[in-house]
Amino acid sequence: IVFTEKQEALVKESWEILKQDIPKYSLHFFSQILEIAPAAKDMFSFLRDTDEVPHNNPKLKAHAVKVFKMTCETAIQLREKGKVVVADTTLQYLGSVHLKSGVLDPHFEVVKEALVRTLKEGLGEKYNEEVEGAWSQAYDHLALAIKAEMKQED
Ligand code: HEM
Repeated sequence: IVFTEKQEALVKESWEILKQDIPKYSLHFFSQILEIAPAAKDMFSFLRDTDEVPHNNPKLKAHAVKVFKMTCETAIQLREKGKVVVADTTLQYLGSVHLKSGVLDPHFEVVKEALVRTLKEGLGEKYNEEVEGAWSQAYDHLALAIKAEMKQED
């Protein structure tokens, strides 16, 4: 695949912006996930017993940060190596956590949409289709690697 220097830069720059307010954007990210797929709520330990998305929940923030950060790292790898390289142990861990939590393939599309909406919210006028395309491409590659691992463990 071709992942350009420009795309890598766009992903890195936008992550730098969102990183400045993790509590805000992690909340926005999860609110979007629940708006798109309300049933997804019960998969997350920190959402199961509450009616609203909890503010300043460490696990919630950790998941949001992981999705954004690992997608950003994937963008860098795609540019440098033309493929996704996640350490085997990390991938195995990701595969088993998601499998155990009941995550299914379509959930990855939900999270991607939530990611795109969060970028839109955070970037304001800096958001455009090129930014969306770069993030989408990197996310798809990462999601594919995780889904493949989930199938192996199945
Ligand atoms: C847990 C990353 C997509 C649901 C985790 C963990 C990581 C992670 C690293 C371990 C716990 C942590 O460190 O916070 C990712 C990445 C994703 C992704 C990089 C996509 C590129 C998804 C999707 C769903 C999901 C699509 C379902 C909508 C969960 C759940 C847990 C989890 C339910 C257990 C968390 C808990 O209940 O405390 N994920 N995830 N993840 N993930 Fe994901």
